[in-house]
Amino acid sequence: MTRAICPGSFDPVHLGHVDVITRAARLFDEVVVAVSTNYAKTYRFDAEERRMLCAESLAHLPNVTVVPMGGGLLADFCREQGAVGVVKGLRSGLDVDYELPMARMNRHLADVETVFLPGDAAFLHVSSTLLKEVAALGGDVAPFVPPAVLRRLVPPDHPDGAGRDVPAEP
Ligand code: PNS
Repeated sequence: MTRAICPGSFDPVHLGHVDVITRAARLFDEVVVAVSTNYAKTYRFDAEERRMLCAESLAHLPNVTVVPMGGGLLADFCREQGAVGVVKGLRSGLDVDYELPMARMNRHLADVETVFLPGDAAFLHVSSTLLKEVAALGGDVAPFVPPAVLRRLVPPDHPDGAGRDVPAEP
């Protein structure tokens, strides 16, 4: 039985994430999506909502589970989960520069390998940050997010107040 971790802040999850997680679920017996919270950061969606949006968007994948990772080390989480690998998607050289030091550090800390999957061409320009900005200014993000996320990505002046940023809760 091989288990891999797909970590991220998922603020919110988008179809680029879903693509990578779907492909990871074909390579490993089990995939655990770890929703991380950096307590120094501010998020648009709180930890439970980020977890819930991931769970709803990945419910069709039987060997994928979604769990909160809190603010601890990914390497410790991998050990606790008995994971043999971490899976990440790469969109560009910028991602490579960002990801390689973390991959090396995680290997040093927990002897865990990171597997990089090339991002699908349809989503190379997609990031959670860009989607939040475009949606808040009234742009169409429907091709890039799961339905559950689309319902939540409303302009900041919408009556349900979904545009607020929320501080991470310890
Ligand atoms: O979606 P993001 O914000 O790019 O995800 C980054 C994440 C959560 C994968 C990364 O910041 C991480 O692994 N955080 C956990 C804390 C940790 O282990 N830091 C040291 C990394 S070597």
